[in-house]
Amino acid sequence: MAAENDIVYLNGRFLPLEEARISVLDRGFLFGDGVYEVIPAYGGRLFRLDEHLSRLESSLDQVRIRPPLIHQEWQTILNRLLPDDRDRSVYLQVARGVAEKRDHAMPAKSTPTVFAMSSELDPPYDVHAGVGAITLDDTRWKLCQIKAITLLANILLRQEALDRNCAEAILIRDGVVSEGAASNVFAVIDDVLVTPPKSHDLLPGITRDLVLELAHANAIEAREETISAEALPFADEIWLTSSTREILPVVELNGKCVGDGAAGPVWRRMYGIYQAYKQLLRSP
Ligand code: PDD
Repeated sequence: MAAENDIVYLNGRFLPLEEARISVLDRGFLFGDGVYEVIPAYGGRLFRLDEHLSRLESSLDQVRIRPPLIHQEWQTILNRLLPDDRDRSVYLQVARGVAEKRDHAMPAKSTPTVFAMSSELDPPYDVHAGVGAITLDDTRWKLCQIKAITLLANILLRQEALDRNCAEAILIRDGVVSEGAASNVFAVIDDVLVTPPKSHDLLPGITRDLVLELAHANAIEAREETISAEALPFADEIWLTSSTREILPVVELNGKCVGDGAAGPVWRRMYGIYQAYKQLLRSP
């Protein structure tokens, strides 16, 4: 759902959602040829905006779309999509734009289609209760570091988890955990917080980086290391991180308890640290 006033941004204009129109020849529509970001806003302030915009720049660069806007312009636009100080998530998307005819090859010239909207951010889960997850084979492509709008594999994987009454699919590639269908994965193994190192197999999550930063700042031992599929079920804790779900404990994996089947002590500590960090943004 977009903001109450349903005002969205499309190609230089702010307009009501129902008036926002794009061409059916837009390559975002025809090919999923574009990239996106999801940025949380707390108390009307965008969270980790610089980090999100640099990841956007990196995604754009890797798919060869020239950045349509500079940092300051993004900031101005996105702030206008925050009508009040309620917590929201801002979605922005840059597609390659309209080409004269449908052809896989990139058009010599095209103007990117730039779209942004905001929606209310209310976690659909009782975070303290935790969620269930299943492991699935990572069927996605080999450029998972790009935040591409082409998400069909992620959609199928997430849906399979939902169909099995789980909140997320934890993906396994070549015997190791890559990430969730729409989240990064952390595990507490032998008292150490572990998350897979950055690679082309996972999105460099902004929440992931912040959790590592907060762990280091608060003397929680944390490492970027591979997590084998065999080791995962024996972890004391498993967490999922993302901009919209923050840090979510997984209490059941493939129908079996993780640890003692409740959100663990390291999660409780990190969750508190994370909430305090967010609060700083609301009232610096
Ligand atoms: N997804 N990995 C994948 C595949 C994701 O789709 C996401 C987030 C993350 C976490 O990244 P971050 O911490 O920067 O949100 C990891 C967003 C929220 C989405 O697609 O809606």
